[in-house]
Amino acid sequence: MAITKVKSLKGEINIPGDKSISHRGVMFGSISDGITELTGFLDGADCRSTIGCFRAMGIDISQKNDHVIIHGKGLHGLTAPTQMLDVGNSGTTTRLISGILAGQSFISSLNGDDSIQKRPMKRIITPLTMMSANIRSIRDNGCAPLEIGGAPLKPIHYDSPVASAQVKSCILLAGLYADGITSVSEPVVSRNHTELMLSGFGADIKSEGLTASIVGGPKLVGQKIEVPGDISSAAYFIAAGLICPNADILIKNVNTNPTRAGIIKIAQDMGGNIELLNERIVSGEPVADIHITTSELHGCTVSGDIIPTLIDEIPVIAVMAACAKGQTVIKDAAELKVKESDRIATVTENLKNMGCDIEATDDGMIINGGNPLNGNIVNTYLDHRIAMSFAIAGLVADGETTFDNEACCSISYPTFFETLNQIINK
Ligand code: S3P
Repeated sequence: MAITKVKSLKGEINIPGDKSISHRGVMFGSISDGITELTGFLDGADCRSTIGCFRAMGIDISQKNDHVIIHGKGLHGLTAPTQMLDVGNSGTTTRLISGILAGQSFISSLNGDDSIQKRPMKRIITPLTMMSANIRSIRDNGCAPLEIGGAPLKPIHYDSPVASAQVKSCILLAGLYADGITSVSEPVVSRNHTELMLSGFGADIKSEGLTASIVGGPKLVGQKIEVPGDISSAAYFIAAGLICPNADILIKNVNTNPTRAGIIKIAQDMGGNIELLNERIVSGEPVADIHITTSELHGCTVSGDIIPTLIDEIPVIAVMAACAKGQTVIKDAAELKVKESDRIATVTENLKNMGCDIEATDDGMIINGGNPLNGNIVNTYLDHRIAMSFAIAGLVADGETTFDNEACCSISYPTFFETLNQIINK
């Protein structure tokens, strides 16, 4: 794959289903009674890992592209897997499933790829242990592989030191199996898909400010869910539309949940022409079409409470900042270090290689935008979001942009390059 400078970007596109919502649909459907049907499911490697884990615990799941049917067996219907569960590259699978596994009467274990084996799991081991769960890092290094389950749970209140929907969801899911009310407070509100969707399945779950709480032992009932397009995937085309010349792009059917949509606010703060059309609610989630045209961007500060609402978009926001006039400061984003790669390091390295004036900081980066970018070989570190963000940088760079491995896009967006090619005019 080689990307070169474009003359114009035009078209109307659909993007694949939301990754966070797709994972949750499979998980919650599996532990509900009756059939759950997902349309618009993200058929990417991460969500396939979630399907594989629940199939290994006796759940009948049929999948044809973006259409998934789950024959749920209720809160206590999972059966012990005969092998270690394989979570692949997926942090969401690992942390959310751990909450469910903690509540089972059987003992199970899970593991994933090299990246997963380096990601911090103490953040879930600590609260689950407070709930009396048996959970241990098999190599005693706070990472996967993990062994989990076999002990009755008690409800807790947990003050999470990190704003993480994966941690929050893990505890709320374990709370389904505890007798009483389990609650979690976080320093800043993280994405709330678990709260919205579990409520639709019949759980007694509430959010008040920074705290979410759930009552144990509900009867969950299968649902029909239309999964909207993923704003984290739309983000590449939002950025492309803003920074490329003669661009006019309409992205249809995107999830615009305020706990996810920080990139829209930042695009506006940077002077971007971006508008939401046809705003509506689909399966309990806000959805809109997003229209973007070429813009003269200027730098801005990205910090504070907005960070969790755009954490996965920071690599492509950094690319926007490299093309903007003036300085962009990204801070309060130390969580970037524990994603699929250390994204402070991997974004800084790749933007520097393309000629950008960028400096890594402890909790973000400082970018002095406006230098022309030069094509380069992108070092993806097998991180899907790095590959796709730098494909977008390649659209405005001189020369060719190539990748050490572009196949990693299939984690969240297997058809990324096809969609990009649809709108490119050379
Ligand atoms: C996710 C939460 C975020 C995000 C990840 C998906 C989720 O992680 O980065 O891609 O589906 O709950 P954290 O909760 O660790 O911030």
